[in-house]
Amino acid sequence: TALTLIKDYDNYTFHHSVNVAVISIAVGRACGLEEAQMRTLGLGGLLHDLGKLKIDVGIINKPGRLTLEEFEKIKKHPVHGAGIVEQMEGVSREVIDIVIGHHLHYNRQGYPDDLAGRPLSPLTDMAAIADSYDAMTTMRSYRRPVSPRQAMREMKATSGILLHPEYLAHFLKYLGPYPVGTVVRLSQGETALVTKADTEGRCELRLKILFNKEGKKLDREHFVELSAGESERIVGEVDPFLAGIDLGSLL
Ligand SMILES: [Fe+2]
Repeated sequence: TALTLIKDYDNYTFHHSVNVAVISIAVGRACGLEEAQMRTLGLGGLLHDLGKLKIDVGIINKPGRLTLEEFEKIKKHPVHGAGIVEQMEGVSREVIDIVIGHHLHYNRQGYPDDLAGRPLSPLTDMAAIADSYDAMTTMRSYRRPVSPRQAMREMKATSGILLHPEYLAHFLKYLGPYPVGTVVRLSQGETALVTKADTEGRCELRLKILFNKEGKKLDREHFVELSAGESERIVGEVDPFLAGIDLGSLL
């Protein structure tokens, strides 16, 4: 299938595709989509980067800056992908829109530029939000990941320009102030990882304590739940990268 092709081709693109599918569905849910639309959105998320199969994997995974020529090649992946997806049976126009339009941005100034005038499904803008959230929060060879809260701040800064303002606002509200994957410091001095966050904005969190107040790593699993109104027990965010915490081994 298309997905095993991606998996063989490049591990990052595979994980990214699965993540974007899952996060897209969350964006869709936050925006109040119906079940069938969320399925379409999820499929679009899964297939959005399929066109990268046609690009030299050395360019896809190149650490450091791309040359202008390499970037021009990368910029072709939405059109390549749409070409592949159009040949698949049972793929709707909306999925093709997501594949071809996910780098076009809310202002339609992105790429491919020869598409700028064409109307696209609203699902395209939802998938683009999921795409940027996952890209920012994942470790790459050329840059470290940003925390979920930092990603939310950076996304907010491009609201109405790169990202659809209303869909983004729904998604950020859905994530809540401390999304899953955030590392926080508690008022007693413990360091904890958010493993479950309430999505209705009532600030109910499940935390896994990573280090006790003396900074000692816990040798058995210890969870704490914060109900609404207890969020003041969180005094700040900890950068897992600086604290030497490997989130990949914890999540
Ligand atoms: Fe892409």
